[in-house]
Amino acid sequence: MRFADRTILLGPHRISPATLLAPMAAVSIPPFREACLAQGCGLATTEMVAARHLTVRRAWRKKKPFERAEGERVLHVQLFGNSPEVLAEGARAAVDFGADALDVNLGCPARKVVGSGSGAALGRDPATAARALAAITAAVAVPVTAKIRAGWDDQSVNLVEAARALADAGAAWISVHPRTRMQMFGGRADWTLIARVVEAVSIPVIGNGDVRSAADAERMVKDTGCAAVMVGRAALGRPWIFGALARGADGDPPVPERLDIFRRYVERYVAWAGAEKAIREVRKHLLWLVRGVPGAPAFRADAQRVRTPGEVSELLERARTTLSAAPSSAIPPGLL
Ligand SMILES: Cc1cc2nc3c(=O)[nH]c(=O)nc-3n(C[C@H](O)[C@H](O)[C@H](O)COP(=O)(O)O)c2cc1C
Repeated sequence: MRFADRTILLGPHRISPATLLAPMAAVSIPPFREACLAQGCGLATTEMVAARHLTVRRAWRKKKPFERAEGERVLHVQLFGNSPEVLAEGARAAVDFGADALDVNLGCPARKVVGSGSGAALGRDPATAARALAAITAAVAVPVTAKIRAGWDDQSVNLVEAARALADAGAAWISVHPRTRMQMFGGRADWTLIARVVEAVSIPVIGNGDVRSAADAERMVKDTGCAAVMVGRAALGRPWIFGALARGADGDPPVPERLDIFRRYVERYVAWAGAEKAIREVRKHLLWLVRGVPGAPAFRADAQRVRTPGEVSELLERARTTLSAAPSSAIPPGLL
């Protein structure tokens, strides 16, 4: 299935290919969104942003939270917060900062987030989550989407009820990661739950969870009827997965091309965050880059020692000869 032939609407915006980069904290930042969009990703949602912090405008302006990535036609900003009021106020600020569309995080399982009543804790209470969504749509004129999990635990799988309430409250679409909060990222995503949401609502449903290849993405659409697929972990160190999805054919680019994509990514990261922070973060992306690649152990050892953009460039240059042609990488399950 060529996702380049599929379109999904986000209010006035046509999103094609019908593929999304998942919001990922400290990952879905402008340089990485740019890398994924350049490979053919349809829409790259930002990392989650605290609605409450957004209202402290000066502090956020300094952190450039809403810098648009190059090639980013639609800036889709994910917010988290613990009440309709906080989320609506954060939404207003987000749109002032330039967001073209918003997403509400109703699934984050992290203790810090659920401890304050946000993320999966808000998703646990569909009535309040729907009130929050309605408050946001009343506060801003941009499309608003929601991202949910299966429920809190196996005893309280509430995604169909939540999806109905959110659709009634005006959600433009719903993305579904069918694991419970208690599962975190363990076990397998139960795609049959995505199909149940597709049956229950008339707005588009985005399927998410364990898509690692074009073949997986095609199977997810066939099995669930979802309108688009969202990819998270399989894009780490591998933005070209979106090229495979767009074409509908698996196969990573040759190693030199991957290294060029990475070189540009590192350059953009340094420009965005400054050398020190960028290199600290880029080390883990270098490790992701060589998952499953023959000849990687030496690269991996060197990657953990790089200190400067120059050292990263040298490492990537050396890798042209040290890394042998890699097969389409199979992403090991349970990654992270
Ligand atoms: C490092 C990391 C950070 C994440 N941060 C967020 C986030 O900020 N907001 C969110 O809704 N989900 C977040 N998630 C969950 C992903 O968006 C996605 O739902 C999940 O990884 C399942 O998709 P996958 O199997 O394609 O990775 C994060 C996941 C990872 C691995």
